[in-house]
Amino acid sequence: MAAKKKPAPPSTTPARRRSQEWFGREGKMGFIYRSWVKNRGLPHDQFDGRPVIGICNTYSELTPCNSHFRTLAEQVKIGVWEAGGFPLEFPVMSLGETLLRPTAMIYRNLASMDTEESIRANPLDGVVLLMGCDKTTPALLMGAASVDLPTIGVSGGPMLSGFYRGERIGSGTNTWSLSEDLRAGKITEHEFHEAESCMHRSHGHCMVMGTASTMASMVEALGIGMPGNAAFPAVDARRNVLAREAGRRIVDLVKQDVRMSKIITRAAFENAIRINAAIGGSTNAVIHLIAVARRLGVKLSLEDWDEFGRGVHTLLNLMPNGKYLMEDFCYAGGLPVVIRELGLAGKLNKNALTVNGKTIWDNVKDARNDNPEVIMSFAKPFKRDTGIAVLRGNLAPDGAIIKPSAATPELMQHKGKAVVFEDIDDFHARIDDPKLKIDADSVMVLKNSGPKGYPGMAEVGNMPLPPRILKKGITDMVRISDGRMSGTAYGTVVLHVAPEAAAGGPLGLVRDGDLVELDVKNRKLQLHVSDAELEKRRATWKAPDVKPSRGYVKLYIEHVNQASEGADLDFLVGGSGSAVPRDNH
Ligand code: FES
Repeated sequence: MAAKKKPAPPSTTPARRRSQEWFGREGKMGFIYRSWVKNRGLPHDQFDGRPVIGICNTYSELTPCNSHFRTLAEQVKIGVWEAGGFPLEFPVMSLGETLLRPTAMIYRNLASMDTEESIRANPLDGVVLLMGCDKTTPALLMGAASVDLPTIGVSGGPMLSGFYRGERIGSGTNTWSLSEDLRAGKITEHEFHEAESCMHRSHGHCMVMGTASTMASMVEALGIGMPGNAAFPAVDARRNVLAREAGRRIVDLVKQDVRMSKIITRAAFENAIRINAAIGGSTNAVIHLIAVARRLGVKLSLEDWDEFGRGVHTLLNLMPNGKYLMEDFCYAGGLPVVIRELGLAGKLNKNALTVNGKTIWDNVKDARNDNPEVIMSFAKPFKRDTGIAVLRGNLAPDGAIIKPSAATPELMQHKGKAVVFEDIDDFHARIDDPKLKIDADSVMVLKNSGPKGYPGMAEVGNMPLPPRILKKGITDMVRISDGRMSGTAYGTVVLHVAPEAAAGGPLGLVRDGDLVELDVKNRKLQLHVSDAELEKRRATWKAPDVKPSRGYVKLYIEHVNQASEGADLDFLVGGSGSAVPRDNH
């Protein structure tokens, strides 16, 4: 009979790895922690103290943008094995933007809790986050930030370009334009359906510079992703190589104890804000990055978005602001070219560290632009001075934002009479009514679409225009709401008004015919109604009746912060670290 083999000794590394608190144990607990994991055929020496890497996977058939993540996870695993680590893949709640109702955003915080608790509760030393569709990226970054282990983000990559009748069509962006063409009678139902089949033709996330591509760019900009993370298409072999390299690299980060908080610093956020302006990125990045910063204890406010975005130009001629798509961006050289331009223009914290061990400047200083029509230079940009503008005034005491690169320049200074919709149902019920009193100079105001009011702060801020205005060939009007806008959308759309109407913000007091002034240059959003009149209205104002009796939505409504604070749940702000004090048996 073979001699009884002793359990693996604890790690001999100077700092005992976190995973050894499980796998390096003697006696009953060591047996429990190892034996069940051995059920897939792992040898005893697998538990010898090598870095244990969690691969946090948001694969789901209900999240079309993440449908290739099994392959991606396999590549990360190969990389981890190659570097002498021990990979363990685990699922967390996945959030598919197009299927989840009432909005994926309401579940971002729930998925972040799942991520945080899954990482902390398990024997992991480091983690690779697999992220793609819009909310999966911030949810996983937020959750991982609250644990603060060594972490690398790997994005799934954008889809190949959509093509319809010889023209590029972009996710979402052309969904909005085609549906407006249909409403205006410019195309038939048949053509509409044909375009639907031509838009999304490979694995990957939306291939315009929408929220998913923006957040993948933010992962690279913050240094928490590998160079190339933003733009390699999902089906490009280089995406798999990137995943494999991330698998190798996370093992080093664990050995060197380079935690997430050493990478995502205040300097990294400043870079990300400027890079978001240079790519013409989504307004959703504002909420998500503030939420991630607050998890890490980094001070980041709306004012920072205004300050660091000022004087930065949009360099990319990509939808929804321009005409090309993410595949074109990749072939032009991708995000390193943009970052290099910012570095040369003196708008980059060059020493910010990234997960590959180099500074952000080292990663990009030799980047080459292979298509100046897609990526323009800082000296001759696609659009000038297009950082996210933060507006204030009696209509938005805690701020509101607008994306100048997606707006109509002539409407950026505008006064018009409000046409008010009490909520999105009211909007849908009346917008096609030929008797609706509205003209091209009106300001469309949508209430109760914020975090508490919708609930979940849906992407409804880019309200479609009334058919009779569209038929005149007018495609943009000033629109204001406490909701969000899809990153694929465009228009002169003021978003994230805070406090929201449902939380008692002044937006809830606006009435039809009130004069509203938008002045982006002076960062002003003003309701020209006297304070006395507003006080009178406030006395009769009633909060909307959104009071679920149970479950997550009840928790969400009771605890969600306003958009200006990242719309996180109040009790999730900050982190709890990685310590777990007790055994499970
Ligand atoms: Fe998933 Fe756009 S729907 S990224």
